[in-house]
This record gives sequence, structure tokens and C-alpha cells, in this order.
Amino acid sequence: MKQVARQARAEGRIVGLVPTMGALHQGHLSLVRAAQLRCSRLITSIFVNPMQFGPHEDLAKYPRPMERDRALLEQLRVDYLFAPAPEEVYPAGFRTLVDVAGLTERYEGRARPGHFRGVATVVLKLFQIVQPAFAYFGRKDAQQARVIQQMAADLNLDAQVEVCPIVREPDGLALSSRNSYLSPEERRAAPVLHRALLAAQREIAGGERHALRVVGTMRGVLRGEPLATPDYLDIVDADTFEPVTLLRRACLALLAARVGPVRLLDNMLIEESSGSFTVSL
Ligand code: PAJ
Repeated sequence: MKQVARQARAEGRIVGLVPTMGALHQGHLSLVRAAQLRCSRLITSIFVNPMQFGPHEDLAKYPRPMERDRALLEQLRVDYLFAPAPEEVYPAGFRTLVDVAGLTERYEGRARPGHFRGVATVVLKLFQIVQPAFAYFGRKDAQQARVIQQMAADLNLDAQVEVCPIVREPDGLALSSRNSYLSPEERRAAPVLHRALLAAQREIAGGERHALRVVGTMRGVLRGEPLATPDYLDIVDADTFEPVTLLRRACLALLAARVGPVRLLDNMLIEESSGSFTVSL
């Protein structure tokens, strides 16, 4: 992979990277399409990264439909699929870990100890192997995208980290490889996260500026769905991931809830320009 990427750079290609864990869906493919608009050689990686899974998480049962994924990437004319084996990525004696301090203490970092260390470590390795000019991530995992951006800045990486919008099902549920774990009944309950964000959007459009009130509204919507157990709900500064009391320049409404066996994540970007707030779901 290093040789291929080096060759592409030597030919003057703009090399793009879309890191994934496979079980590709339209969310992943939207990253591929965004990358293709900017890059003239595109590498998509598929690697179910053991280091980012906790001991009681779903590493063993994480879906790995490799042939289907390969066909989807071929259809989209992705130039290269990089799918290394775990023992190639982490040979015996591997010892170096990447910790992005502070940003990883709350929310997903608290719910999944060690998760972001695994993510940052594998993404740095992918960046070192491919040395992309651009790398694409989804806002679906907003904290992850922020952690990668911080790592790239702190370690002087050349890759420009791009963050793409959330792709949703028609009923609002954010696409995720783990949605396949939902039973039909749980699947019907799952759009409650999106409904909570819609309620928050309405409230903000109506003039509400107090984060606590907006969070309370989201909590109320989640309470209405007995199959959903809220994990965290908050409004945070989009740069620091510190909770805010009043809406400001750029913040994120974050929510995580368990529905059956799945922890669902969702968020909405809230941005201020000349006194009025716009939200992106
Ligand atoms: P994975 O969950 O496969 O997601 C790969 C990329 O697709 C991530 O950047 C994620 O945010 C994005 N994505 C997932 N669902 C999306 C949706 N509905 N809309 C838009 N983008 C979406 O995230 C990972 O893999 C891993 O942690 C990885 C970064 C590959 C490191 O192992």
C-alpha cells in the first residue's frame, strides 16, 4: 500500500483516504463520493480495528461482508481497497499508542474507555501508510472526527481532515453498520433520537438559547420511547466538546441511547451567523 500511494503521489495525483470498518452503507459511500470530487486517486480502507473495541463489545460479531463491500467499491470506481489483516497492522510486539487528551474524556470516551486511543492509533497508522492529501470522516461520529482533526494538527500531519454530513434513513435514523443488530421492534423505536433532535431544532428556531432547556426537551422525547435508554444528552462546544450553557457560535447537540443491543449515536450541528442559528441534522 505504501508503494502504491508513493507512486500515485510521484505521478502528481491528489491522494484521498476514506477509512472504514466495512459493512458499507450509503453513509460510507457518501464519503467516497465527496472524496472523488476532490481527489484523483482514492483509497478506501476496510479494517475492523480490534484496538478500538472494548472487552465486552462486538468485535467478533461485527459484520464483515467483504465480497459485497468490494463490489460496492468497484461500482463506485474506487481506485484501491486496503484491507490489511490484524496481525499486519499489529504485529507481535506492537507498543505505540496515540492518546488525544481532554477531548476523549467525556461522552463516547467515557462510555467506551480506550476507544479513541484505538481509533487515533489506527488512523495515524493509515495516514502514515497512505499519506493522503485529504481524508474523509462522517459527522455521525462527531467526537471521533474532532479527535482526528486534533491529532492531525498536533502531530503536524499533512492530511486535511474533511467532515461530511450525516446520511439518514427516510425515517431519520442515522445509517450505521450496527443498525443490522436491531430487531424489527427496536428498529421502529430507533428514530426516536432523530425525533429528539427535530424537537430541539424547533425549539431553537422558536428562540430558545438555553442549552439546559433544549437538552430537557430532547430528554422528554427520548423518555417517550420505552425501548430507548438514554446514555448521554448534551450540547457542547464544537471545538472543545465542553458543555455549554448558552448556545454559541458553533455547538453540537449530542445524544447516545441504547436501543436493545445497540448504542445509537446521533447529533446535530448548531451554528450562529449574524444573530440567528441554523442547524444541520
Ligand atoms: P465506521 O464505523 O465504518 O465508519 C467509517 C466512516 O463512516 C466514519 O468516518 C463514520 O463517521 C462514517 N459514517 C458512518 N455512518 C455514517 C452516516 N450515517 N453518515 C455519514 N457518515 C457516516 O468510524 C469508523 O468506522 C472507525 O472508527 C475508523 C475511523 C475507520 C477507524 O477504525
